[in-house]
Amino acid sequence: MFHLSTVLALCITAYAANIPSPLSRRAIPDPICTGVCTGTIRDPYVLRRDDGTWFRFTTEGNIRIATAPSISGPWSTNSGEAGALLPGGSIIHLSDDQRLWAPNVFYSNGLFYNYYTVSQIGSQNSAIGVATSATADPGTWTDHGSIDLPANSQYNRIDANFFRTCATCTPYLYFGSSWDGVFQTTLTSDLLKWSGESPINIVKNTTFPAVVVKNPYPSIVEAPFMWWLPIDGTTYFWMFFSSGACCNTPSSEGGLEAPGDEYKIMACRSTSINGPWKDKDSRDCATENGGSVVLRSHGDTYAPGGQGVAYDPDSNRYALYYHYVNKADGTYDDFRFGFNWVDFSTGWPEVVE
Ligand SMILES: *[C@@H]1O[C@H](CO)[C@@H](O)[C@H](O)[C@H]1NC(C)=O
Repeated sequence: MFHLSTVLALCITAYAANIPSPLSRRAIPDPICTGVCTGTIRDPYVLRRDDGTWFRFTTEGNIRIATAPSISGPWSTNSGEAGALLPGGSIIHLSDDQRLWAPNVFYSNGLFYNYYTVSQIGSQNSAIGVATSATADPGTWTDHGSIDLPANSQYNRIDANFFRTCATCTPYLYFGSSWDGVFQTTLTSDLLKWSGESPINIVKNTTFPAVVVKNPYPSIVEAPFMWWLPIDGTTYFWMFFSSGACCNTPSSEGGLEAPGDEYKIMACRSTSINGPWKDKDSRDCATENGGSVVLRSHGDTYAPGGQGVAYDPDSNRYALYYHYVNKADGTYDDFRFGFNWVDFSTGWPEVVE
């Protein structure tokens, strides 16, 4: 025989189960994208031009340029060199098998500045170059070559991210991968060269993966991306980065990385652009291996990374976009583009429906 209180308790429990649980406990939504979303789309950078056209720049094909009427798509790509940022490649020459990677675009005073990487896998023989255009369209980019950041055994000159808080404010450049991770430096006021200011290490991971399947390197942190917003009267800066193995496949030497050590999107936070950078547990990101996970593998979505954030004025929301691999296709080698809406109102980025 049921007491009313038991029935009530059962009802309340059943009802409570339908109340939206905290964001982190909800199922993580799938990546959003329509149109051309597959076909080795890596390290995306997405921006909306003032006329409402969205641009997507990605690694491969001398920086492929795609466009869409909204961030959701449908994305269309001009194939071949006609759709490249730099048809024929960069004026920087490091080696015959060099590739262009990881574009990052910034709009200032009537010009788009595209910072790109020239490198080869696993090499410190790298450079960051810059190209400019008045429209961002394919075929309109002028290559200015290297920003002349000097080599250093501590870092790799890849994965550039430009950031500043106002048109006359300090132009920061973030970059880095492997070795000691992510660094911050500054550019000259014409935004075309390194300022001469020594790079500062802001994110570093000295922990080794639980199972070392390939090279005995500490975990990689790379692909920096800075975002900032005022939340309840406090201005926060978030340094997003990718951590872990970006690209292992079942046929790689050693196979897939141990679960959890594959690519994932993380963030560190500061109330000052000059740090210190801390994670949710107050661990320092440069000296205590700090970093909080924003998006990791879930369902068929594997190894999300190479991320960025864009504001979408049509929905008045923020998008966290990235590349990932769809586990269901079995090969783990077709990088896809997708995004999720992201909410900053708690002070930390949370992926939401
Ligand atoms: C640091 O590396 C460890 C081991 O691979 C990993 O579990 C952890 O998530 C990494 N943290 C960051 C901030 O990259």
